[in-house]
Amino acid sequence: MQAIRIIQDEHRSLAAVLHGMLYLVTKIRDHGMKPDFDLLGAMVYYIDTFPERFHHPKEDQYLFRLLRIRHPEAAPLLERLEAEHRAGAEKIRTLEQALARYQQGGASEFSNFATAVQAYAKFHWDHMRAEEKEVLPLAEKHLTAGDWEAIDAAFAGHTDPLFGEEPSEDYHKVFQRILSLAPPPIGLGRVR
Ligand SMILES: [Fe+2]
Ligand SMILES: [Fe+2]
Repeated sequence: MQAIRIIQDEHRSLAAVLHGMLYLVTKIRDHGMKPDFDLLGAMVYYIDTFPERFHHPKEDQYLFRLLRIRHPEAAPLLERLEAEHRAGAEKIRTLEQALARYQQGGASEFSNFATAVQAYAKFHWDHMRAEEKEVLPLAEKHLTAGDWEAIDAAFAGHTDPLFGEEPSEDYHKVFQRILSLAPPPIGLGRVR
């Protein structure tokens, strides 16, 4: 069940980026740090590019679809999480817009941006917690070996840029910077 480890790793990389964003928001608000828009932009780009376009769709199409077949009682839980995937796509647009307004509009737009970051982080943490604490245990119990083969193949078929083996040089540097901001214990141990 390679997919379980991959899903957990991908959740940790997203959590690391969310922690990094919250850390920057706190530094800007409480310590007068100048915003690094390259970095904030890289973080939002990461969330939009990887979890929203690869991670959640693979959960929907493989893990959730097969679990619904093997364990129909999970349907309400899976419907809720699928609805959150759809809502997440809108929320990342909101976050992107809040960042653009902050970058163009300056300090008066900061509190809107900070609120958007906090809301997005809380939303995603709750979502990932439900997947790890509720969906994965049900999947381990009810899915067949054949199901896992299909799910493993899907999740192993792409590379998370945060943990991937040979990300492009620029991409790698961006994620090194993102990771270096994530407070321990998240992320720092995985810097290569
Ligand atoms: Fe998800
Ligand atoms: Fe997930």
